Amino acid sequence: MWPPSAHPHRECIPWQGLLLTASLLTFWNAPTTARLFIVSVPFEAAEGENVHLSVVYLPKNLYSYGWYKGKTVEPKRLIAAYVIDTHVRTPGPAYSGRETISLSGDLHFQNVTLEDTGYYTLQVTYRNSQTDQASHHLRVYESVAQPSIQASSTAVTEKGSVVLTCLTNNAGTSFQWIFNNQSLQVTKRMKLSWFNHVLTIGPIRQEDAGEYQREVSNPVSSNRSDPLKLIVKYGESPFAWGRPPWEHITSSYSVTIWGEQPGSTLQQQHSSTQRSN
Ligand SMILES: *[C@@H]1O[C@H](CO)[C@@H](O)[C@H](O)[C@H]1NC(C)=O
Ligand SMILES: *[C@@H]1O[C@H](CO)[C@@H](O)[C@H](O)[C@H]1NC(C)=O
Ligand SMILES: *[C@@H]1O[C@H](CO)[C@@H](O)[C@H](O)[C@H]1NC(C)=O
Repeated sequence: MWPPSAHPHRECIPWQGLLLTASLLTFWNAPTTARLFIVSVPFEAAEGENVHLSVVYLPKNLYSYGWYKGKTVEPKRLIAAYVIDTHVRTPGPAYSGRETISLSGDLHFQNVTLEDTGYYTLQVTYRNSQTDQASHHLRVYESVAQPSIQASSTAVTEKGSVVLTCLTNNAGTSFQWIFNNQSLQVTKRMKLSWFNHVLTIGPIRQEDAGEYQREVSNPVSSNRSDPLKLIVKYGESPFAWGRPPWEHITSSYSVTIWGEQPGSTLQQQHSSTQRSN
């Protein structure tokens, strides 16, 4: 804390300095001005999980805790109360059978449901009968179900178009189109509509061939549709065969170019391997 050069010998630190250091450390370690504060672990809860609403910086000289459903302290909304000295827990009208208050005032919530979403308020009572309270909003999400996708056609001819529609009935908060296992790069030939659930591609190109999926996520889970394989057939071509010319070349060829350069003879050879039919 002190620059070493200012106090080269530890035993030379004046006692006033030590006292000041001690009081500063006390101040930093115990923020007595901190209000009662509640955190939820996990921060975002999935349906069926256990959740802990924990008190940060529990004050001293407490007599009891009371946890309430809602943002205010009302007897009819009491979940449970806990008297610290006697360890006596008393359930209230809002007790569901899944909540427990710990010695440190935390509320342990088992198997949370979507209906448990809402505010929870802790009221602490001090030995001098004063009270303090803090509220926390708990949000419970359901796991997202698997979406599915439908295509107007799964084998499309070049320059044609295709419409992919995502069917989902769940509470996802984020949706994404996936192409070949990666986030789809939306090009000028693509159009998204109906809240991005409908993807129209056209005029279609060979590069659009591949596997399409839809991913639905919320803060606690994500799920992908089965891949839908899109095939792009070669379209009309100026060649009579209706297919690109290279598909018909079956033999290799090589071209030898002889040229004259001052003082030397240049030989270039071009060769190419062809696909066979
Ligand atoms: C959790 O709650 C659901 C519905 O409320 C119930 O069907 C399930 O059995 C519960 N699971 C446990 C482990 O209590
Ligand atoms: C996706 O949803 C299906 C049911 O629709 C479920 O069985 C599966 O476990 C989910 N997958 C994930 C990773 O949540
Ligand atoms: C996508 O990933 C799955 C599993 O990770 C794999 O089986 C599949 O071949 C991949 N698809 C593509 C188009 O890369």
